[in-house]
Amino acid sequence: MNETLQTISRRFSCRDYEGRLPEREKLEAIALAAVQSPSAMNRQPWQVLVITNKSLIEEMDAEGMRILAEAEDKSTYERFMERGGTLFYNAPCMYLILKKPGTDLDTGIVSENISLAASSLGLDNVICGMAAIPFNGSKGDEFKKKVGISDGWEFGMAVLVGYGKTKKDPHTPDISKIRYIE
Ligand SMILES: Cc1cc2nc3c(=O)[nH]c(=O)nc-3n(C[C@H](O)[C@H](O)[C@H](O)COP(=O)(O)O)c2cc1C
Repeated sequence: MNETLQTISRRFSCRDYEGRLPEREKLEAIALAAVQSPSAMNRQPWQVLVITNKSLIEEMDAEGMRILAEAEDKSTYERFMERGGTLFYNAPCMYLILKKPGTDLDTGIVSENISLAASSLGLDNVICGMAAIPFNGSKGDEFKKKVGISDGWEFGMAVLVGYGKTKKDPHTPDISKIRYIE
């Protein structure tokens, strides 16, 4: 197996981070990999924000957990309480991908480039759709202003990155989902 396939096969979603910030060169290499993603008609309908401001990440985390706690359906809140009571697992870095409306697929590809680039550099990570929550609550405009989301742009996806405290096996691939039509 070559290095790319090894990185793909070993990637897993990390939900438990050390506070230590990854090295700046690694964060920059991941950001570059993000904007090297392919996109439909090469429109590059994204902005990639590398957030390492600890208090901002903690503030968004607390607001997200507050919103989940107040939701009618408590199951998501309970799941995150079981995982340690944080939405972002104390990750020291969040790649926040902003997108133009209707470009989910492009955003997904950027997310995976970030995830695989991080994994290839020995950094743990998890794609985090839950990061949308703080932007949709009563403090949403405040957070949008703090990170600089201007008109015409919206939350696309987030990827949390750092050094994991614990490692996990990747999910077992279901090869029955593959069919060869010859
Ligand atoms: C679009 C997308 C959104 C996700 N959002 C979250 C999330 O908010 N929180 C989380 O802990 N994991 C999230 N995940 C990670 C998945 O739960 C994870 O990829 C899946 O359980 C398979 O496990 P693995 O990544 O360890 O192989 C997300 C994954 C994707 C692709």
